[in-house]
Amino acid sequence: MAVIIELKNVWFSAQSRILARNINFEYEEGKTTALIGPAGGGKSTLLKLSAGLLVPDQGEVRFRGKDVFRMNRKENLEFRREGAVVFQDSALWANQNLFQILELPLRLHFPGMTARDRMRRIETVVSEVGYRKELNVRPAQLSMGEQKLLAFARALLCHPRLLYLDEWTESLDSTAAQRLIGLVKRCQREGNTVIFVSHNLAVISELADHIVMILGGQIFLKVTREQINSDEDLMRYVQKGMGA
Ligand SMILES: Nc1ncnc2c1ncn2[C@@H]1O[C@H](COP(=O)(O)OP(=O)(O)OP(=O)(O)O)[C@@H](O)[C@H]1O
Ligand SMILES: [Mg+2]
Repeated sequence: MAVIIELKNVWFSAQSRILARNINFEYEEGKTTALIGPAGGGKSTLLKLSAGLLVPDQGEVRFRGKDVFRMNRKENLEFRREGAVVFQDSALWANQNLFQILELPLRLHFPGMTARDRMRRIETVVSEVGYRKELNVRPAQLSMGEQKLLAFARALLCHPRLLYLDEWTESLDSTAAQRLIGLVKRCQREGNTVIFVSHNLAVISELADHIVMILGGQIFLKVTREQINSDEDLMRYVQKGMGA
């Protein structure tokens, strides 16, 4: 098994509260891991730690064996290009229009790309996620669901090898959610790694190879999809733990 992201003895606190307690976890390359648990349990914190977006107080986060906080610029850019995040609140830039927001990652990671090719790539990802309205508006003019679609489109732009998705179907109608699920399945078929947070058991049991429950900033339970699907008691336990 190849490990793509590894957390080793990771501790993280904010405002004197410990939000991640001695996390040790390996994400397998090409596999999908669902982070589940009750509100405030620490799922988003663990997702951001795993994406190298929060600096641990102690411990290490490694991408393909390299400490993400000791990378040189080239390695860091590669890590940023290969990994793409859909944040729980979408986190689109408030003071840019949608086209500018989508253009930025392409400008950063593919500096040789022509304006025409950037436009084509943007049109492709926007149509893949099913966003049909104009791009010369700012995020505040979109619904929460539309913002999620745009955030998802932004994540797909640079052909990520590693997708981090936080509550990515929750604000969407079922047609839009199914479309994004289809895109995640395509990423899986292409051999990519997916780490996602969800409260939707149907989505979890359809997509996740591994399921990790987080409670009080700690990994409370690690199971595989096979274990959940073949053990009704475990399934009920997981279901209960998601809202506990
Ligand atoms: N920057 C911060 N400063 C202080 N506390 C924080 C910070 N970020 C998160 N927290 C707290 O850490 C805990 C875990 O937050 P986190 O967002 O990781 O939970 P979650 O499991 O994703 O919850 P939800 O299901 O509501 O999204 C919460 O109690 C939250 O209030
Ligand atoms: Mg969260």
